[in-house]
This record gives sequence, C-alpha cells and structure tokens, in this order.
Amino acid sequence: MTNRVFIFDTTLRDGEQSPGATLTLKEKIAVASMLDAMGIDIIEAGFAASSEGDAQCIEAVGKAVKNARVCSLARAITGDIEAAARALENAPRARIHTFVSTSDIHIEHQLRKTRDQVLEIIQKTVTLARRYCEDVEWSAMDATRSDMDFLMKAVSCAIESGAKTINLPDTVGYSVPEIYGAMFEKMTARFPDVCFSVHCHDDLGLAAANSLAGVRGGARQIECTINGIGERAGNAPLEEVVMALSVRKDYFGCKTGIDASRIYPTSRFVAAVTGFPIPKNKAIVGSNAFAHESGIHQDGMLKNRETYEIMRPESVGLTRSQLVMGKHSGRAAFKSKLEEINAALDDEAFEACFLAFKNLCDRKKNVTEEDLMSLVHDYHSKGSSSFVRLINFTLAQDDEASYTAKTIMDVDGKEKTATASGNGPLDAIFTCINQSTGLSPALDSFEAHSVSQGCDAQAESIIVMTEQGQTYTGHARNTDTIIAAAHAYVGAINKILAKGK
Ligand code: KIV
Ligand code: ZN
Repeated sequence: MTNRVFIFDTTLRDGEQSPGATLTLKEKIAVASMLDAMGIDIIEAGFAASSEGDAQCIEAVGKAVKNARVCSLARAITGDIEAAARALENAPRARIHTFVSTSDIHIEHQLRKTRDQVLEIIQKTVTLARRYCEDVEWSAMDATRSDMDFLMKAVSCAIESGAKTINLPDTVGYSVPEIYGAMFEKMTARFPDVCFSVHCHDDLGLAAANSLAGVRGGARQIECTINGIGERAGNAPLEEVVMALSVRKDYFGCKTGIDASRIYPTSRFVAAVTGFPIPKNKAIVGSNAFAHESGIHQDGMLKNRETYEIMRPESVGLTRSQLVMGKHSGRAAFKSKLEEINAALDDEAFEACFLAFKNLCDRKKNVTEEDLMSLVHDYHSKGSSSFVRLINFTLAQDDEASYTAKTIMDVDGKEKTATASGNGPLDAIFTCINQSTGLSPALDSFEAHSVSQGCDAQAESIIVMTEQGQTYTGHARNTDTIIAAAHAYVGAINKILAKGK
C-alpha cells in the first residue's frame, strides 16, 4: 500500500454549508487559489446542481487553479451528474463526486427505497458519471450507521461500475476511532487496489481522531476543511489532520503533498471571509496555539524549545517577526515581504494593495505581517459583487447613549444620503444604511477584535445578519472600529443583494 495520503478539501462545499458562511465568487476563487498553492490534491468547489452560483464557482475554480483536481458533488440523479459534468467541462483535471445513502434509516425514511433499489441506483449513476469523467468518486452517505454486509455490496457495486475513490463518510459524526478504523481495515483488505477516503463530522468532537484512525486502517484520502468549518459542528480540520500526519510520521508512516507553511495565512483568510472567528485555543491556528504562559514552560522553552514545543510555529506559516514595515518602505520591500508571507500577487492586485499599504502607513506607524495579510484579504474580498458602497459618514453624539449619523452611499451608481438617530453610533449608522438600501436585516451578532498589537492596531469587525431566513456575514478592517463595523455591515448587505440578482 502507498504511504501517500491525498488531501481533499471541501471548504467550498461542505464548509460553505455552515449556516452563514456564504462566500462571494471572488472570495471562493481566492480561497481555491490559496488551497492550490498549499498543495491540496482535490478541491471540492461546490455542488453544481444546487445553484447557478455553485456551478459558476466550479467552472471558475477549474480555470483558476494550476495543480489541484477540481470536483463537483452530485446526488445520485441524472440531472445532478449532468450539471456537474457541464460545470467541469473545461477543467483540465476534473472529478465527479456522487453519493447515495446506505444506512437503513436513510434508505427507508429519506429515500423511501429498498436496498436492492439503492444498488441499482449506484450502478446506474456511477456508470453515467464515468461516461462524463475519468475520475469518479462515490460516497456511501451515513456509512458508519450502515449494515456492514450491505455496505460491502454497495462498495463493490460502485467499484465495478467505475468509481476510483470510495468515500465512507461519518455523516452524522457518530463513529469512534476504533470502529471507524476497523471499517477501513476490512474494506482495504477486500479491495486492496482502491483508494478509500475518510470524511468525518465533528458532532462528538472526534472528526480529526476518526479521520486519522481511518488512515491507520488503510484510507489514503482525507476529506477535510480549513478551520474545520462545515455542517453543524463542522468537518475534520485540515490543519489538524495534516499536522498530525507530519508531526507523528513515526506513528502513521504517511506523507501528504501539503506545504504546511501555507496553513496559517489560509486559515486566517477563510476565517475572515466566512466570518467564523478562530477560537484562541484552536489547535494549530488559534492565536494561543504557540503561546507559553506558565513560568515553568517559559523557562523550559528558553533552555530548549523542544521541552514544550512539538512543532515550530514557522512550520505552519506563523512567523514571529511582528514589526515589518513603515511609511518609508518602498515597492521592492513590500513585494519581498508579501512573498515571505506567501501572498505574492499579480500586477493589478499588487498595485491596489501597495496603495492600501501606503494609506495604512498614514494611520499606523508600524505595519505588521498581520496587517499585510489583512490588506491582501481585503483586496480579494472586495469587488465583483459590490452593489452598494459606503462613501463616507459623520457622527454626532446627542447625549450619553444617543447618536445621530449621516451617511453618503453609492447605491447602484446613484448617490444617496440618509440621516438617522440610534442607540449608540453603530445603531445610527446601520439604520442609515438600511434606509439607503431599502433593506432591514436582523443583526444576529457583531464582533470586533484587534488584528495586531498596539493602540493603533487595526480592528477586524465581523457582522452576522439574517434576511428572509438566510444568514449573511460581512467583515472589514480599519484602524477605526466604527469604520470597520460600518464596512462589514455594507459587506453583508452586498451579499444579500448578490443573492437577489
Ligand atoms: O457528510 C457527508 O456524508 C457528505 C457527503 C455528501 C459526502 O458530505
Ligand atoms: Zn459531509
């Protein structure tokens, strides 16, 4: 058996299924390009039949990425498989990923079919998918609650029909490592030439452990997402499974094609565009993941880092130098610093980011790597779907709690002015924005945190709002928290408007 484990990233499909994690096309392409640069083997870019937006994204990602294979999900339905094939038509390296449930509870209550009918469906749909695409993956949804003998039959049928990769998902996050690992041992003993894949959800907090147990059992593909975002409690976090395989090579004896130094910037970018902040104590990418607080640990670290550090922060792309640039830094220094933080840009993006950098230097004395990363993130997040733009605003405090705001906005090319009072500065500004755009979404949450250190640090603001039962997020950064919040609010409004177009 080969010791190469393929990494299948589903941030843009299962990850985007997290409530509120709606990304614009531009943001998705930027995420896909970062995944590609990281060495991801397969990028699941969406579910073509689910929406025109997903189909467009798969097509665009297929064109944008240089190395990764691009994949679309498809139910076991002719129309879905055809939609996936159309979206992947121009991708140089494509995969169709089709699935059907194999557990009795799904077969009886959701599909309302018999086991024999499910076998027929597998045979028909995998054969059809193979007509369009050389590379077909088949998933047994709810594999971990399926009858093992029937699962074996279903897997055999998918392989005979042409599937090259067989994924056995723990769809509801029910399995435990020993049982999940044993299932792969059984499968790989029976079908030694097939690539088996793990796909774990984190309902019991076991997604990473189960995925790794599957690899021990012989699986050679891991389906995962950046920061573990995904349905309900999420999917297995890519950063955790990749670093576990790397740090504990002695135990797993496997390797991936991932450039781990790209993990940290990609994680920060995904957190920013999805609006899902990373908990401070999150393994690998949390801001405390490499912080040593206790005196005993600090003493040990000063004597020999390995006393308390099992991997170097630099190995996942977390660089220690904080103070990097200032207003005297020129284009060459800016370019070389971007390359150092793995954020090289094309000419147009470089010029836009350099201008933003110079503007930031007027407001902030010391520009850190975090600041540079955030400039690049902002560039990738802005643009294609901006229907409204906040030109500027003024604020006046009426009394202790009450404020009056006046905003000037560009709404579909027309300048609109609004004035409103509110209980606090943000309430006043958000009310003005609602007046100018004719929307009144419910504000679910508002967060602000500093991107770097110091009193002049940039604040990152994340807004989550609901409109007609659908959740939207917006984020923005500025040295002024109120400006960041106002732009984050407009960002989320643009996502609502993009949905309606
Ligand atoms: O969790 C799951 O079963 C899935 C399948 C569609 C692979 O996401
Ligand atoms: Zn899933």
